[in-house]
Amino acid sequence: MPNPVIDCLMNHRSIRKFKPDPIEPETLDLILRAGTRAASAGNLQPYALVVIDDPKKLERMEVKAPAAIIALIDQYRLKRWFELNDAPFYNDQAINLFISYWDAVIALQNIVIAAESLGLGTVYVGMILSTDVQELLGVPEYVAPAGLVFLGYPDESPQLRPRLPLEAVVHRNGYHIPTDDEIRSFYRDKDREWNEVSETKKHKLQEKGVYNYAQAITLGHYTPEFIKGESQKLIANIKKAGFRLWEKRSKTKQE
Ligand SMILES: Cc1cc2nc3c(=O)[nH]c(=O)nc-3n(C[C@H](O)[C@H](O)[C@H](O)COP(=O)(O)O)c2cc1C
Repeated sequence: MPNPVIDCLMNHRSIRKFKPDPIEPETLDLILRAGTRAASAGNLQPYALVVIDDPKKLERMEVKAPAAIIALIDQYRLKRWFELNDAPFYNDQAINLFISYWDAVIALQNIVIAAESLGLGTVYVGMILSTDVQELLGVPEYVAPAGLVFLGYPDESPQLRPRLPLEAVVHRNGYHIPTDDEIRSFYRDKDREWNEVSETKKHKLQEKGVYNYAQAITLGHYTPEFIKGESQKLIANIKKAGFRLWEKRSKTKQE
């Protein structure tokens, strides 16, 4: 039962090389509207979408693309509205942080799907979570990064990247703890990819203690030092924004 939406989803691939052509304002506007049509907790839309299309700002970013959209957790706008209406609310609480994160990310994924359906290419960049958005964007309190996507007309046509078999990720009516053999079978295709790596490259990696695909991940890009460093920066962002994950909530004016 294919249809255009399913076809678009099944053809998703990240694009990392873009044509310099700008995205037409009407197209970008439509994409943003489709993004904000996503479901939203309490229909409060506790997120913000920052469009970056200033070439000077884009120049300093990881990917060369005509536009980027940064999705932010935004409890600040909500707080202002509540204050104007004398409606006390704990914006700094963990549940608000996570609900805002959820809202922001699904809006961003709506943006990705809308963009791809219109012939644009997209790529997410994870480093935004550890970026100081107060410094980068001048955000106020209760605003923290949630996601970043680059957009533009594709200048490459990469292959579809494989996904794990459905049984690796889908559980029915409860969480099935997989056996070691099941885990091995879920990742068989990745192990096969490792076997196809050239002998010269393998040799170089083996010198660094990398003997399989999993080790290439944990000893290559996502090293313990990298993961710890990124996590510390992410936590610093959350704290700097004023969210309290571990401390007691702040007192409101009424208390
Ligand atoms: C949360 C998230 C963060 C990502 N961060 C990066 C990134 O920093 N750099 C990058 O080149 N791709 C990034 N990607 C894209 C993934 O590498 C890509 O989706 C994955 O390799 C599968 O390829 P495909 O999207 O072409 O199917 C990210 C994707 C997600 C969902």
